[in-house]
Amino acid sequence: MKKLGVAVIGTGFWGKNHARVYKELESTELIAVCDVNPERAKTIADQFGVKAYTSTSQMLKNKRIEAVNICTWSTKLAKEALKALKMKKHVLVEKPMATNTKQAKRLLEIAEENSVCLTVGFLMRFIPGLQKIREAVESKKIGDVVCATAKRVSQWPERIGDVGVVKDTAIHDIDIMKYLTNEDPIGVYAKTGNMRHRSFEDYAQIMLTYEDGKSAFIESNWLTPYKTRKLVITGSEAIMKLDYITQELWIEQKKKTVQPKYQFKEPLKLELQHFVNCIINNEKPLISGIDGLKALKIAEAALKSSAKNRLIKLKW
Ligand SMILES: NC(=O)c1ccc[n+]([C@@H]2O[C@H](COP(=O)([O-])OP(=O)(O)OC[C@H]3O[C@@H](n4cnc5c(N)ncnc54)[C@H](O)[C@@H]3O)[C@@H](O)[C@H]2O)c1
Repeated sequence: MKKLGVAVIGTGFWGKNHARVYKELESTELIAVCDVNPERAKTIADQFGVKAYTSTSQMLKNKRIEAVNICTWSTKLAKEALKALKMKKHVLVEKPMATNTKQAKRLLEIAEENSVCLTVGFLMRFIPGLQKIREAVESKKIGDVVCATAKRVSQWPERIGDVGVVKDTAIHDIDIMKYLTNEDPIGVYAKTGNMRHRSFEDYAQIMLTYEDGKSAFIESNWLTPYKTRKLVITGSEAIMKLDYITQELWIEQKKKTVQPKYQFKEPLKLELQHFVNCIINNEKPLISGIDGLKALKIAEAALKSSAKNRLIKLKW
C-alpha cells in the first residue's frame, strides 16, 4: 500500500507529537520536519530519521510531501498554512487556525481553489467520550439540551506568548459547543482580564446564547495551579459529564448514575488518522475550515464583548 507523504511545520511541544504519531501510523510516511529553530528541527528530524528544514518554502518544494501539519506559534499558523495550500498540499492547521477571521477566510478560499483538504486541530472532538455525548445529544437520549458548561483551567504555559487564553484555550470549548448543538450562537457576553500575562488576557468567562433559549458557559484561565478540563451538558432527561483528561464519562439520570466503560484512545492518533483517511478517500473532514473560521469569529466576539462591556450579537 502506498503511504501518504507527510511533513510537520513547527516541532515544539505539540509538533513533535504530530511527528511521532505520523511515524506510528501505518498509512503515512513522515518525510521531513521544519522549524525556524535549527536545533529543534534537527533534534526531531534525527529522532525520527527524516530530513530537517528551517525554511518551509524549501521543504514544500518536495513533491513527495502531500500533506502538512502546521504546529507553529499561533500567530504564524495562517502564513505557513497559506504557503502549503498554495503548493497544493493538504493542510491540518492547529487551532486557532489564524490570528483573525480575515486570514482564516483566505485559507478557505485557497484550499477551495486548489481542491485540497483543509482541517483545524480541534483535538477535543476526537476524545471518545465526547463522541458518546454527541451521539446522546443527537439521539435525544438526554432529552433536549438546556445548557452546557465547560471548564478548562491550568497554570499559564509560558511558551505561549502570542495569543491569550480565549484564542488558545477557550476556543476548544467554543468549537465543542458548536459540535454538540449543531448550532451557531446568536449572542456572546464575556469578561476577560490579565493577572500575570503582560500582553494578553489570562482569564475569560464566556457566555453563549442560542436562538431557542439554551446557553453555554465557558470558563478558561491560566491562573489555576492544577489542570482541569471538564464538560457538563444538561439535558431535559439526563446530565452528561466528561473529564477530558481521564476520559471518564458519567450519565446522571433521576434514579441512577452510570459510567460507561470504553477503551482509552489517544485523540491525536485518531485525529491524524482521520485527516489521512479523508485525503486518501477524498472525503470531507469532521472539522472543516468553516468550523475553524466560526470558532475564531466567536472568540473575537468574546474579546470585543469584554472590551466594550456589552453583549455582542452574532449574524451568520
Ligand atoms: N490542539 C491541541 O490540543 C493543541 C495542543 C497544544 C498546542 N496546540 C497548538 O499548536 C501550536 C504550537 O504550540 P506549541 O505548544 O507546540 O508551541 P511551541 O512554542 O512549543 O512550538 C512552536 C514551534 O514552532 C516553531 N515556529 C514558529 N514559527 C515558525 C515558522 N514560521 N516556521 C517554522 N517553525 C516555526 C518554533 O520555533 C517552535 O519550535 C499552537 O498553535 C498551539 O495552539 C494545539
